[in-house]
Amino acid sequence: PYPLYAELRRTPVARQEDGSYVISTYRELADILHNPHLSSDVRNMSHPMPSAEGATTPSFINMDPPEHDRLRRIAMRHFGPPHTPGLVTAMEPALTATVGGLIDDFTGKEQIDIVDDLAYPFPVTVICHLLGVPREDEPRFRVWVNGLINAIDYDPRTDPKEKLENGVQARKDLHEYLGGLLAQRHGRPGDDLLSRLANDDGPDGRMTDEEIISTANLLLIAGHETTVNLIANGMLTLLRHPQILERLRGDPDLIVPLVEELLRYEPPVHIIPWRAAYSDVTVADTVIPKGSQIMLMLASGSRDPDRFHDPDRFDPDRRDNQHLGFGSGIHLCFGGPLARREAQIALGELVRRLDRPRLVADPPPYRRSPVLRGPIHLLVEQNG
Ligand code: HEM
Repeated sequence: PYPLYAELRRTPVARQEDGSYVISTYRELADILHNPHLSSDVRNMSHPMPSAEGATTPSFINMDPPEHDRLRRIAMRHFGPPHTPGLVTAMEPALTATVGGLIDDFTGKEQIDIVDDLAYPFPVTVICHLLGVPREDEPRFRVWVNGLINAIDYDPRTDPKEKLENGVQARKDLHEYLGGLLAQRHGRPGDDLLSRLANDDGPDGRMTDEEIISTANLLLIAGHETTVNLIANGMLTLLRHPQILERLRGDPDLIVPLVEELLRYEPPVHIIPWRAAYSDVTVADTVIPKGSQIMLMLASGSRDPDRFHDPDRFDPDRRDNQHLGFGSGIHLCFGGPLARREAQIALGELVRRLDRPRLVADPPPYRRSPVLRGPIHLLVEQNG
């Protein structure tokens, strides 16, 4: 039930010793996510994320209007508008085939790791497909993604300097690789996102090569680990709620509201740590002074009893489920439709095809990150 969040919500806007502010209640979060006086630009932050180090050009998640809006608009033209099926529908057969292939590989095995065997490889394959990365390069891609993701871990058992160096190296290698791929696509466009971005002559002007590469990087980082965690948190939650799992077996359409409830109940992104106040901002009668860094506790907002009835209950029948799992406002996740569909297909197929799945360890080991929440491994036994 996240007692720390309940404690935090007693002070909706709390000043920390280092001068930063923490916002933890639904109403205040929804309000501030739409406040035009907030910046997402890391250059305005007193405590930037370690992962920002070594970045060449920031991507538009860490930009403010008008640059943010221009790049987001161009990217969205090719990624399908967020509320229409668009590209996601076109990708549906590939998504189902990828999940099917991964599950084929472990049918009959008595013990599987939901993370390593499915949740991890699935989204990276999807993003490679989207960007037009050739299949044979996928394993290299995975190594780089891993390096980048590990750099934002806060695991005290691993050496932070080494992780940072690996992260910086991975960023360089990935940048070089994407640059090479883009150069090929300039000459010989294919039917992939990189080619379409490179050849867009729309009203917002062309993206430069650097902008295309940083956008591709963003899709990778924003779209990978988050989806891994949604699938893994989803399987864990289902195994902890056997009656709901049984219901889903008999009624596969339940997966749609179920994934929505998962995004509220066990969201992959718990905190947005990158906001700063451009000018003095008043929230819930508290003035946050200009220049302060602000932490947005999204997961706490999605468990706020003033907004959600019985918030600690996992209830796929919940109505009016406006959770904060994808944020809100101008930076609202635009990968939402893809992430939802990936999780629906992965969880739906796991439940259909696993034979009496059982958790090997509960709780499983978790990634040590205050921002992203999900198991590093999720071992499940089934009747082999
Ligand atoms: C932004 C969550 C999957 C692409 C965001 C934000 C959140 C989020 C909370 C807002 C960040 C902010 O306000 O600063 C998630 C979760 C996902 C997921 C929980 C999976 C379950 C994806 C996927 C993609 C993607 C699959 C694309 C392949 C993006 C992009 C942004 C973003 C491009 C930046 C939007 C902007 O700055 O305008 N995501 N995301 N995400 N996400 Fe996702």
